[in-house]
Amino acid sequence: MSRTVLITGATGTVSTALIDALEGADVRLRVLVRDASRADGLRDRAEVVVGDLGDPRSLAPAFEGVQDLWLLTPNSPRAPENSMNAVWAARQAGVERVVRLSVIGAAHDAPNRSGRLHALSDQELERSGLRWTILRPHWFMQNLLNETGDIAATGTFSLNVASSRVGMIDVRDIAECAARVLLDAPDRHHGRTYTLTGPRSLTFDEVAAELGRVLGRPVAYLPVSDEAKHKTLLGHGVPEWIADMLEEYARAYVSGWGDFTTDAVAGLLGRPPRDVADFARDHAARFAPAV
Ligand SMILES: NC(=O)c1ccc[n+]([C@@H]2O[C@H](COP(=O)([O-])OP(=O)(O)OC[C@H]3O[C@@H](n4cnc5c(N)ncnc54)[C@H](OP(=O)(O)O)[C@@H]3O)[C@@H](O)[C@H]2O)c1
Repeated sequence: MSRTVLITGATGTVSTALIDALEGADVRLRVLVRDASRADGLRDRAEVVVGDLGDPRSLAPAFEGVQDLWLLTPNSPRAPENSMNAVWAARQAGVERVVRLSVIGAAHDAPNRSGRLHALSDQELERSGLRWTILRPHWFMQNLLNETGDIAATGTFSLNVASSRVGMIDVRDIAECAARVLLDAPDRHHGRTYTLTGPRSLTFDEVAAELGRVLGRPVAYLPVSDEAKHKTLLGHGVPEWIADMLEEYARAYVSGWGDFTTDAVAGLLGRPPRDVADFARDHAARFAPAV
């Protein structure tokens, strides 16, 4: 009988790509959402259950009969609590395997709060007695979609990462790696942590050049100060905690912390990860000026 896979974060960037990557696979998909109306587009592909990772009581029915859990927690000071609630619900329900989305460099001494919070949840899962696999992806190329408005309007985008290099990854590759792990036998990747990156560590000048090549018009990266970026983010309604977290990442990248790649995607998928040129080509319409 097919295994039931419960997908958390189902309306978000990574889990949406994971649902696509699992299309046609011999699994029963169940998606956990806080608001059922946000899952209307998923009903033909998955069973929709309502639950909140912040509310343990809401999770028991959602986890019943599940063999595999894809565990994604949103960035928040409550992320370890959300993860803890899910792992506890998984244990209670007899879930066999948890595949968790973490982040590069997750550790108690990571130079950013997100990495330190993820480390807490990674360690809890490792000691949970459940079968586990942890995916630690690098900076998402899809973060560039936050810059589509500026690029379409002005041909520029602004980040506070100076000339740092980042081994950025296309979220579709993270999703395909997660799907590979979930579709392989439960013991195959048990106890493994995969640090997932793209094929190249790039400066944002190089990213701008790739976008410009695909769009057929110049695109420029404008380095800005931490203060300027912080103000812009708050102006867009980004919560202060998230803006501070992003600033910590930016500083780490400027120090060279993100300048690396790994072979993990190729090892899991048997092909190289997507390049930023592939990302740019596949998302070109999103960067085009409105007509
Ligand atoms: N961005 C990067 O470059 C990067 C790199 C490495 C790792 N990461 C990690 O990636 C994760 C974020 O993934 P993402 O970008 O795919 O997330 P996202 O697009 O922000 O989506 C977050 C998802 O979590 C759901 N959610 C929020 N609060 C919830 C709650 N209390 N209970 C249940 N579901 C809840 C949201 O559902 P609603 O529809 O209900 O809001 C949404 O589906 C974080 O853990 C982050 O550290 C990010």
